[in-house]
Amino acid sequence: MGGPAGVAAIVVAGGRGERFGAPKQFTELAGVPLVERAVADARAACARVVVALPDAAGWTGGSDVAVVAGGVTRSASVRAGLDAVPADTEIVVVHDAARPLAGTALFEAVIDAVRAGADGAVPAVPVADTLKRVDGDAVVETVPRDGLVAVQTPQAFRAEVLRAAHAEGRDATDDAALVEADGGRVVVVPGDRRNVKITDPSDLAVAEALLSGSVS
Ligand code: C5P
Repeated sequence: MGGPAGVAAIVVAGGRGERFGAPKQFTELAGVPLVERAVADARAACARVVVALPDAAGWTGGSDVAVVAGGVTRSASVRAGLDAVPADTEIVVVHDAARPLAGTALFEAVIDAVRAGADGAVPAVPVADTLKRVDGDAVVETVPRDGLVAVQTPQAFRAEVLRAAHAEGRDATDDAALVEADGGRVVVVPGDRRNVKITDPSDLAVAEALLSGSVS
């Protein structure tokens, strides 16, 4: 492990790939499974890595990675990972296996922001599209884009703050939402547009192009 002592990562790879059509965490990007790419970044930036996998997964991750069974929701998978994070850990970084191109610099940026005093830190990029609230196919309203950002993983937290946020078993689409709801101070650091989330098979083609350097 390349990262500083006291920093642990949880890579959540417990999804069943319902939107993707298959367990996407084992899909290969240029010959390497998505989960393995996410774990490689986490390994380089953190002293300990825990991976939450679906029950039946055959991927073992290597001897330096703790594997736990994921839960029925993303938040439940994070909680399963937290149970395997050593008690003396100061900072926990949560990362989606579905983001294979995060890179270690993003891990370092969110860890540094927490070291500087925040309860949590998340990478964010400006929103490019116009946003509308809809009801079926009817547009209800256009949401002003000012002050809105799109948030990625890895997300870093003071360990006790993250554990408290998960203590009641709540669900959210990211961990920062739970910390915010508890009144925690979450800050943003510059995200990276290349840190794409693989949701749809077409996202893999984008990631392949980014990886090969044919686009940047
Ligand atoms: O599809 P979704 O945005 O929820 O997935 C984000 C990440 O959370 C993926 O890496 C996925 O494997 C993980 N996940 C999980 N356990 C679940 C659902 C999603 O670890 N039950």
